[in-house]
Amino acid sequence: MSQSGTGQSGADLALPEADWSPASLRAQFPILHRQVNGHALHYLDNAATTFSPLRVQEAVAGFENHSRANVQRGMHQLGVEATDAFEAARGSAARYLNAASSEEIIFTSGTTFGVNLAAHCLGQLLRTGDEIVVSVAEHHSNFVPWQRLCERLGLQMKLIPVQASGSLDLDGLETLVTERCRLVAVSHVSNVTGSVTDLKTVSRVARRRGALLFVDGAQAAPHGPLDVQALDVDCYAFSSHKCYGPTGVGVLWVRDAVLQTLPPFLVGGGMIERVTCEGTRYLHGNRRFEAGTPPLVQAVGLGAALDWLMELPWPAIRRYELGLTTRLLQGLSAIGGLSLVGERQPQGRAPIFSFAIEGCHSHDVCQILDDYGVALRGGHHCAQPLMDSLGLTATSRASLAVFNTREDVEALLHALQRTVELLR
Ligand code: ALA
Repeated sequence: MSQSGTGQSGADLALPEADWSPASLRAQFPILHRQVNGHALHYLDNAATTFSPLRVQEAVAGFENHSRANVQRGMHQLGVEATDAFEAARGSAARYLNAASSEEIIFTSGTTFGVNLAAHCLGQLLRTGDEIVVSVAEHHSNFVPWQRLCERLGLQMKLIPVQASGSLDLDGLETLVTERCRLVAVSHVSNVTGSVTDLKTVSRVARRRGALLFVDGAQAAPHGPLDVQALDVDCYAFSSHKCYGPTGVGVLWVRDAVLQTLPPFLVGGGMIERVTCEGTRYLHGNRRFEAGTPPLVQAVGLGAALDWLMELPWPAIRRYELGLTTRLLQGLSAIGGLSLVGERQPQGRAPIFSFAIEGCHSHDVCQILDDYGVALRGGHHCAQPLMDSLGLTATSRASLAVFNTREDVEALLHALQRTVELLR
């Protein structure tokens, strides 16, 4: 993903560019070497979930086999080691986001949980008549929780529209975000089109009106370290499984000044200061939002994944990815009847490509591509309001990870040509 305007730093590279190649990365992903339907696997569904490198798997196995115990509770050696590993993972998440402190990191089960947590907690601070601004291009995870909150509390939900390309149309933002707006919620990167939201503009308008800015970073976080302070946002959520980590864990970052104002979400063990028969006092800070045993094994895996990501030579990866993007866009445009949903330029976007093919349903397209070992997602991508806005019901979507190669792109284009011939 292009660095410009994304808040992605790519700094502090531990691995010299010269030592990097897609082949060196691929050796760390045994799953890439399997076959599907008699063909080499060409996995291009990374926006749904991607794979874990051996280093992450080894970190998980090492924790399981050496230090597994509950965290923040045990009075024994294993409990101390487990807590240290868990808190080290929190530190990795803080560094990955350039958070001011690891105290701002809340471990969740994933982006969806992070949005629901924020909607529930922030919702308790809102009143009838307040407004929330959300974009039409959101994944349902960053749409339905806000919609439901508005229904429950009698808030008004206003929508940022999209341009014909599916990118957000921010021209009317100054008018849309009024003094009554308390929160703006947008994705950093669209899971359908790969377009990057101009968060600095959104943030400037939100700040001027005194509204908070919540960002769904699920599709941006996999593409390199971020800087939430430079982006000037208030909350940022992402999932581990799209960032080369285990499933079942994610991160919600909340700026400390906002975090301190939030009432609890889930209540129970691990988030209290004192419980009596008369009432309960809650912990302050991130632990207030981590009731019960957290996903500690998964968090340790996520920490290892983020450490691994921070060591990658991002400038070299982005140059390589730009070459793949250019070739993919050019190849897609040569297929008759295919229309790309999203910006056509290779720069300034994430490597997520949706397209519709006249006369071919995306489910059929994806099933036939699978016969060639090419894995894509087809359907509405959990973004039905966006699909409605664009007059579509479904698209096929290819999404790249750091291990994808020119062979993957050529295999997709070849199989797509055959698929179109077959379906027409
Ligand atoms: N949110 C994931 C996707 O867009 C599942 O595919």
